[in-house]
Amino acid sequence: MEFDETKLREFYSEAPADVSLADIDLGRIPRHVSLIMDGNGRWAEARGLPRSEGHVAGVDSLRETVTTSVRLGIDVLSAYAFSTENWRRPQKEVDLLMHLFATTLLNELPLFYQENVQLRFLGDITSLPKATREVFEEGLQKTSSHTGMVFALAVNYGARAELARAARLIAEDVRAGRLDVGDVDESAVEQRLYTEGLPDPELLIRTSGELRLSNYLLWQLAYTEFYVTSKHWPDFDRWDMLRAIRAYQGRDRRFGGVAAS
Ligand code: FPP
Repeated sequence: MEFDETKLREFYSEAPADVSLADIDLGRIPRHVSLIMDGNGRWAEARGLPRSEGHVAGVDSLRETVTTSVRLGIDVLSAYAFSTENWRRPQKEVDLLMHLFATTLLNELPLFYQENVQLRFLGDITSLPKATREVFEEGLQKTSSHTGMVFALAVNYGARAELARAARLIAEDVRAGRLDVGDVDESAVEQRLYTEGLPDPELLIRTSGELRLSNYLLWQLAYTEFYVTSKHWPDFDRWDMLRAIRAYQGRDRRFGGVAAS
């Protein structure tokens, strides 16, 4: 996607010692970057604060990452905010997160207008608490005509549930005569995933050091490069984004083939 180079350079002035915009090939920015935002709880606990403060601080990191991604001309930024397994957290924390998602979305709508960002959700948002669902639907409707970066937030998302849903949708189409069994191929599955129409992520960033996928985008991450940082999500900033992209650009992506000579 096109980007404004003046704004980009301004955004990335005052570089720390180890990384700068000059380390990045602006012609090879990944189209889709995905985030597993982990470590809000640990960030708060390390400061003697309630876990909720970690989630609140995490909102600032997410806002900065959205702006960073727009400045860099990334086409799609996706982020794992709440999994199908997160309902098992204490009710108080679930309530806080649902409230935080709704208030954050309302607060950030002006940013989405200003930067022409289109909002999407990955996951089943129909079973969210009514107040949250209504704000999400409003966000979808108000940004649907935006043509800039897509920001896809995974809420009540689980990759296994997503794949089971795709199988169910295919079965229904076959039963109704809309689809031949012989036409069930990879693209038939892709068309029934929440990410339908989006490119697969080239880069997945996970904060807080854990080396696992946690039921996130199992289909879409087949050839994605992973970047894991030990920083907790609230400490992740625009410079970490550059470090991640620099690492990605240093990788040799073969997609099952052999290295280009
Ligand atoms: C992980 O921390 C983060 C989450 C549960 C996701 C919530 C993300 C945010 C609140 C960031 C802002 C997002 C939006 C959409 C407003 P954790 O609680 O798993 O941390 P821990 O592993 O240290 O306990």
